[in-house]
Amino acid sequence: MLATKPEAATTFPISWVREQFPALHGEPRTVFFDNGAGSQVPQWVLDAVHDHLLRRNAQRGGRYRQSREVDTVLSKARESVATFLNAREPEEIAFGMNATSFMRLISLAIGYALGQRREIVITDLDHEANIATWLALEHAGASIRWWKVRRDGALYVEDLEQILTPNTRLVACTMASNAIGSVLGIRAIAERTHSVGAELFVDAVHFGPHGLIDVQELECDYLVCSGYKIFGPHMGFLWGRRAALDALPTFREDFIPDTAPAKYEIGTYVYENVAGMQAAISYLGELGKRVKNGTGSAGGRSAFTAAMHAIREYEIRLSSALLAGMAKIANITVYGRNKPSDADSRVPTVCFNVGNVRPQAVTERLAARGIAVRDGHMYSPRLMRRLGLSDTSGAVRASLVHYNTIEEIDSLLHELQKYR
Ligand SMILES: Cc1ncc(COP(=O)(O)O)c(C=O)c1O
Repeated sequence: MLATKPEAATTFPISWVREQFPALHGEPRTVFFDNGAGSQVPQWVLDAVHDHLLRRNAQRGGRYRQSREVDTVLSKARESVATFLNAREPEEIAFGMNATSFMRLISLAIGYALGQRREIVITDLDHEANIATWLALEHAGASIRWWKVRRDGALYVEDLEQILTPNTRLVACTMASNAIGSVLGIRAIAERTHSVGAELFVDAVHFGPHGLIDVQELECDYLVCSGYKIFGPHMGFLWGRRAALDALPTFREDFIPDTAPAKYEIGTYVYENVAGMQAAISYLGELGKRVKNGTGSAGGRSAFTAAMHAIREYEIRLSSALLAGMAKIANITVYGRNKPSDADSRVPTVCFNVGNVRPQAVTERLAARGIAVRDGHMYSPRLMRRLGLSDTSGAVRASLVHYNTIEEIDSLLHELQKYR
């Protein structure tokens, strides 16, 4: 028996959603389940990037029409991303190349200004980008404390409490695992972190496309996202509490103001991709308006809230169907939270192996049948080892987003059943 049929997804406008993404309709058809490595973009993004390059492919800060328009594009995008994350002010948002370079920028700044507090907490659940950059601070005198996942592949706040001390400077952790899909309770982590006077750095790269981010509600201090995982082009953005951002020392030319966001946006980044990111957020706003039956503005926080709640609800159905289907295939091992009833504490990123078949052989076979999934360590080799897996061959990962469907899940399950 395969997974349940799509009638369950009655209120989510899946047909409209799929229409917005031209790449989903290319021939030959691909079931795109590699969203953890980057999502597809809606037509809105293609149009915005095209329009930017055609009409205002210029450096910001000039006095002519094109350059002034670039300034306007950047400031509008900053406002949109601020609303999307519920930042207190647009100046708390910085644009750049990707999330890793922002992690590096913040960690270098923190390493440069280490005082008495020298302990940094990192986890072995995280993407290596949010590990290696902090480990590198050992050269600056930082002392690393590991918050380790337990055998069940989960991080427990009780374990964090054991390693926090009055000397903890910062806790760096993910909001959702890019490998096994589990979601962390950031608010509770922030409370514990702040109780010893430390700061919390959140990697929201994997969670970004799957649910609502509210930096005020989360009470973290820094948060990074990759735009290209949230239906935008290749770019990244940083949010930080204004006072925290202004306080950190960053490299910049003398005449660049020592305030956010300028001190975090050194050099030129890809303006057309920022224009594209703004369009991706507009698309999400329009989705929100639709799920609210057309009421309210598509650019307001309530539209984003509606969109991300609807996405989360729909994706819980996807996770549940995928996990239920996999549980029926005898030789599949799913890592981490693997029961259909776990669906509301994870995103639809499912990491698995099929008996003793090499992960690469599974992904090659699926690729030949038009199903795009990924094999390997998913940039989380430490987690792979913790799960008892090889940190090179790793596992297979199917990572879904809100434009994927139950029928696509059925086609994956259908192929996997052939291994029986
Ligand atoms: C959880 C997580 N953190 C960080 C990164 C790195 O992001 P970027 O490619 O924007 O540097 C990724 C990329 O896959 C990721 O999944």
